[in-house]
Amino acid sequence: MSTVHLLDHPLIQHKLTYIRNKNTGSKDFRELVEEVAMLMTYEVTRDFPLKEVEIETPIQKTMTKVISGKKVGVVPILRAGLGMVNGVLKLIPAAKVGHVGLYRDPETLLPVEYYCKLPADIHERELIIIDPMLATGGSAVAAIEFLKQRGASNIKLMCLIAAPEGIKAVQESHSDVDIYVAAIDEKLNDHAYIVPGLGDAGDRLFGTK
Ligand code: PRP
Ligand code: URA
Repeated sequence: MSTVHLLDHPLIQHKLTYIRNKNTGSKDFRELVEEVAMLMTYEVTRDFPLKEVEIETPIQKTMTKVISGKKVGVVPILRAGLGMVNGVLKLIPAAKVGHVGLYRDPETLLPVEYYCKLPADIHERELIIIDPMLATGGSAVAAIEFLKQRGASNIKLMCLIAAPEGIKAVQESHSDVDIYVAAIDEKLNDHAYIVPGLGDAGDRLFGTK
């Protein structure tokens, strides 16, 4: 079974409170989502391997460490995942960005794919899928499947807010994918929105409602 990492650092919890608040407008919402994504990236990369290198300081030569291992790919689930990309890239500027476009059919609540463009070498990369919301888990499960079908094997999922139902769905379908969340909320409502959640992440990011 995969591990669920609850990243509840005080700074993350504080910013998440403003993100959840319905009175927070799109500009602040966007900035806060990016900031929280950056803070979460710090923890998501905690197990990255290091290697020793020799450098020369102004004083003398010394052995010190740099990140080794696989290169990183960041994969936002469109649309709302876009709001987290720059936060991740602030800490991993060399990461390549792939896009998976999915929307939830409002009737069936099932994910529908409408776009997919990924780096050619995703099978060689450590992939971080990003999406603010993990509700039923349908979108995340489908996105992980697309990436695996195209050769990816090393995948992490990073979301701001998760419902227990979404975590269960991802763990049951993809037991190899660790999940990183800033909060685990109570439940889903009848429209499969997270309660208390933050509302519709895409609409709040892009001002479409
Ligand atoms: C939202 C969210 C997730 C999905 C989560 O996207 O960003 O991708 O719903 O729900 P699920 O876990 O039940 O699949 P939405 O479908 O609203 O599309 P958008 O990002 O384009 O607004
Ligand atoms: N998508 C959202 O944007 N919000 C939710 O609460 C659930 C799915």
